[in-house]
Amino acid sequence: MHEKTESTMTDSTPARLGFIGTGTIAAAIVEGLALSGEEPILLSPRNADIAARLSDRFSHVGVANDNQAVLDQSDLVILAVRPQIADSVLEDLKFRPDHRILSLIATVSLARLREWTAPAATVVRGVPLPPVARGEGPTPIFPPDKEARALFDRLGTAIELADESAFDIFTAASATMASYFAFAHSITAWMQRHGTDAAQAHRFVAQMLKGLSETAAIAPDAGFAALADEHQTRGGINEQVFRTVTRDGVIDNLDHALDDVLRRLRPE
Ligand SMILES: NC(=O)c1ccc[n+]([C@@H]2O[C@H](COP(=O)([O-])OP(=O)(O)OC[C@H]3O[C@@H](n4cnc5c(N)ncnc54)[C@H](OP(=O)(O)O)[C@@H]3O)[C@@H](O)[C@H]2O)c1
Repeated sequence: MHEKTESTMTDSTPARLGFIGTGTIAAAIVEGLALSGEEPILLSPRNADIAARLSDRFSHVGVANDNQAVLDQSDLVILAVRPQIADSVLEDLKFRPDHRILSLIATVSLARLREWTAPAATVVRGVPLPPVARGEGPTPIFPPDKEARALFDRLGTAIELADESAFDIFTAASATMASYFAFAHSITAWMQRHGTDAAQAHRFVAQMLKGLSETAAIAPDAGFAALADEHQTRGGINEQVFRTVTRDGVIDNLDHALDDVLRRLRPE
């Protein structure tokens, strides 16, 4: 990692990256990129604490005075503000035709982004996930784009999608992250209620889920349904829990939740 004390520079001239919105996902990207390079990065001043922390830590990261200054000194502009304020933030900004725009704003379509960022010629959408901070994120992008693909391949794996409907499906699927952790929490909370030490419960559940994720990753041809089948002994305790949560609709109800997210992503 290229921390503040190091001064190695690559020979080629890298694109200058600018972030509009310096929050959770922007910080994860800045940290992840620093694992493999140190192209100049300019952050918008909000959030002030996160921007200061990143610029203190990395010598190639600076903080602009305002959002327009980010645009004026960047080639690739990454939009990482919340959807609710995106319109009002972007309408005040002056984009250039040669700007490349990478929007992470989950609920704003490509057509709308093109209107908001005109006359910028290139606009791409991406849904990076927090593990990009460790270079371990799968990132759907739309439309396919060489520069965005290279960037997200450095942060894990870019998944290029040829149409926006497919991109929306991946975006909706990524909305299961919090539920995944809530699922893990309900197991550890139950263990603690039965007297297990909190740290031991956390270690056990985290390692179990990590191991199971690796099982799925190294056997991509085995579908998750087949893995669910493989991981329950007939008449055993896994089968018992699986039956109960299935009977109670816990699994099927995810479909409804994801359908609702998809409707939100496609309001028109
Ligand atoms: N988190 C994820 O896992 C994830 C994944 C993929 C995509 N996204 C998308 O990325 C976007 C950001 O998500 P996030 O989780 O990083 O949210 P976040 O932590 O709330 O970050 C958004 C940042 O925007 C800043 N901001 C507010 N007003 C601003 C303005 N006028 N100009 C510039 N910046 C301003 C906020 O600063 P203050 O704190 O000072 O208000 C905040 O730090 C969202 O559109 C989300 O859909 C997030």
